[in-house]
Amino acid sequence: MSNPFREDLVSRSPAEPCSIVIFGATGDLTHRKLIPALYNLAVDGELPTGVKIIGFARREKSDAEFRDGLELLNKKVSRSGHDPQIWENFIQSVSYHQSEFTDEEGYRALAEKLDAEQGGKGGNRLFYIASAPEFFDEILLLLKKTGLNHAKPGCWSRVIVEKPFGTDLATAKHLNEVVRNTFQEKDTFRIDHYLGKETAQNLMVLRFANSIFEPLWNSTYISHIQITCAENLGMEGGRGGYYEKSGALRDMVQNHLLQLLSLVAMEPPTDLTADGVRDEKVKVIRSLRPWDTPEKVAANVVRAQYSAGHIDGNPVPGYREEDRVSPESKTEAYVAVRLLIDTWRWSGVPFYIRMGKRLPKKSTEISVHFKPAPGVLFNTPGQGVSGGNVLVIRIQPDEGISLRMISKIPGNNLRLEPVKMDFNYATSFGKGSPEAYERLLLDSIVGDATLFARRDEVEEAWKFIDHIEHAWHQSGNPPEMAEYVAGSWGPRQADKLLMEDGNQWRRL
Ligand code: BG6
Repeated sequence: MSNPFREDLVSRSPAEPCSIVIFGATGDLTHRKLIPALYNLAVDGELPTGVKIIGFARREKSDAEFRDGLELLNKKVSRSGHDPQIWENFIQSVSYHQSEFTDEEGYRALAEKLDAEQGGKGGNRLFYIASAPEFFDEILLLLKKTGLNHAKPGCWSRVIVEKPFGTDLATAKHLNEVVRNTFQEKDTFRIDHYLGKETAQNLMVLRFANSIFEPLWNSTYISHIQITCAENLGMEGGRGGYYEKSGALRDMVQNHLLQLLSLVAMEPPTDLTADGVRDEKVKVIRSLRPWDTPEKVAANVVRAQYSAGHIDGNPVPGYREEDRVSPESKTEAYVAVRLLIDTWRWSGVPFYIRMGKRLPKKSTEISVHFKPAPGVLFNTPGQGVSGGNVLVIRIQPDEGISLRMISKIPGNNLRLEPVKMDFNYATSFGKGSPEAYERLLLDSIVGDATLFARRDEVEEAWKFIDHIEHAWHQSGNPPEMAEYVAGSWGPRQADKLLMEDGNQWRRL
């Protein structure tokens, strides 16, 4: 029975008209993700009328040139295709504002433009900081200095901060301070696009809207959990320059994979408010056993680079031969970590996460491996089918959920085989899922921060990651850099990590 006093917990405020200012508007993210997401919201009728989009960047460009570039990319990547009529309508709301990120005058001119566009009434403002990270501070400081951070009465002013949110705990804390001096926490949206993926959102529903999973979701029934994020791409498009300074651990584990982990491992929140959910998520990260010595890092973390190999039959270079990568690089393109969560629920259950570039295919999934049924009747050791039930949550592609069960093969003999019960989003609901950025942009317009990282989540995650980075780069005794052939499933050291516990990576 629904509880009439709690309706506010799931209802959403309506999306109000606003001006969206994108810093770093000539970049890849704006062209490939943000504008197509806003366009698709318009296609679905979800973008409030009266939304204005202003691209803020350093390059000289006219509105027309800016719009042409956006159209070119939208035609290529838009989820729902490109409808010239809807686009024409949509693109009228998009303009370009040229300024250095460090030039106060540019911000004053922006303020005038916003006032003029919004009929001198101020209006709602959403600032999306998607520039190169070295400008994040300066942009926030100048938004404050020019008063753009202040909403006029009855309106709101919010900020979305793209990743990377710092490069370690110290820089993340510093950035959090700069943000806090400029915007209130309720108006701050630290984006992690994995939280906007439909299947990631479904994790809480799967766990807490069904009664069959949660009673088993603990160390009594679960043997271990794996989270894999495989990519077949390498360092195309000059990405090597960025990646060299980041590496797999900071690029994907600190944010996306620890966020998925916290959704899988969290306790049920008391309500669905942004803080209700984030209070529980942060507890998971805080409970991670720290790998705080080089020895613990060597025992629980594997890092690796790929050597030359083949992807889909085509030859590809090794990591150190990639464009903008140093031949002596010490940056990992693959990382696997064994995590232990020191809580009552998860005591003794290892979580394994791995992320790698140039693996055989692009695929992200979470697999929950249940303990086998007792070894009597059908599961006597050495007979029957080995392994227990496995619940697989496919984050992408082919979004869905499957359950491995042991079943009898039809016939007069008693022979067993694992079978798969499969739920596929596209076939069950007859339509594809929206892109993560669509949901997240809409949520920030609505003011719902549930799917965004809170300050303490980001800092707790860095605390865990910093120990590992320290062991790799600053200790006198750095653990080895393993190697795998591009197009293979990663280094043998990562297989060994699981074998030590009697487990193995699921084959994707
Ligand atoms: C980004 C990382 O945050 O996520 C990239 O910087 C990575 O290195 C990308 O490729 C993966 O996102 P998705 O949505 O394609 O899985």
